[in-house]
Amino acid sequence: MPDALDLLKTRRSVKPMELGGPAPSAAEIETLLTIAARVPDHGKLAPWRFILFEGEARLKAGETISSVFRADRADATPDQIDFERKRLARAPLVVAVVSRAGPHVKIPEWEQQLSAGAAAMNLVNAAYALGFAASWITEWYAYDRRVLDALGLSPNERIAGFVHIGRPAKPPEERDRPKLADIVTRFGG
Ligand SMILES: Cc1cc2nc3c(=O)[nH]c(=O)nc-3n(C[C@H](O)[C@H](O)[C@H](O)COP(=O)(O)O)c2cc1C
Repeated sequence: MPDALDLLKTRRSVKPMELGGPAPSAAEIETLLTIAARVPDHGKLAPWRFILFEGEARLKAGETISSVFRADRADATPDQIDFERKRLARAPLVVAVVSRAGPHVKIPEWEQQLSAGAAAMNLVNAAYALGFAASWITEWYAYDRRVLDALGLSPNERIAGFVHIGRPAKPPEERDRPKLADIVTRFGG
């Protein structure tokens, strides 16, 4: 297991298609979610929750995604429909990070949404620390209310991300990062 700084300096996303089994064990999932829930959260509102997609349930959710896709695309080919059906079955585990942010007397909704992002990022880093890789994606179905209703989200809930977790088929390649000189200034400097 890499030490914490190496881990944070080397983590990379791996595409869902390149994430295989074996899936995280029950104990590993417990660790992943415990870390995901350990994030800054103004007002201790826990303005997020997690939905796990594992095993056959991934395809059951995929049926919903593909039927919504079909309803909008009369010209869809069988291959496209099959691809949609398998959207959540590419990696052995998918965790939907659901934002429950809403109006509050003291805590701005924006801060609640940021906390959901922190939960998703903690989940991604925890997966890497446990020897897995992850991909934090949304894709079209994260924004389709018909899909969200069928997946059990309340009207006030939104998807912060579908975090796909599995074993990487091969080590990921590096990608360019923003130059610090382009994104950092010193106030008054
Ligand atoms: C909220 C959010 C949603 C994202 N949705 C997608 C997506 O739908 N499809 C996609 O290819 N990448 C998406 N990404 C980008 C990937 O997660 C990731 O940034 C990219 O693969 C490279 O990440 P890395 O630098 O951590 O390796 C999303 C990122 C965020 C933060």
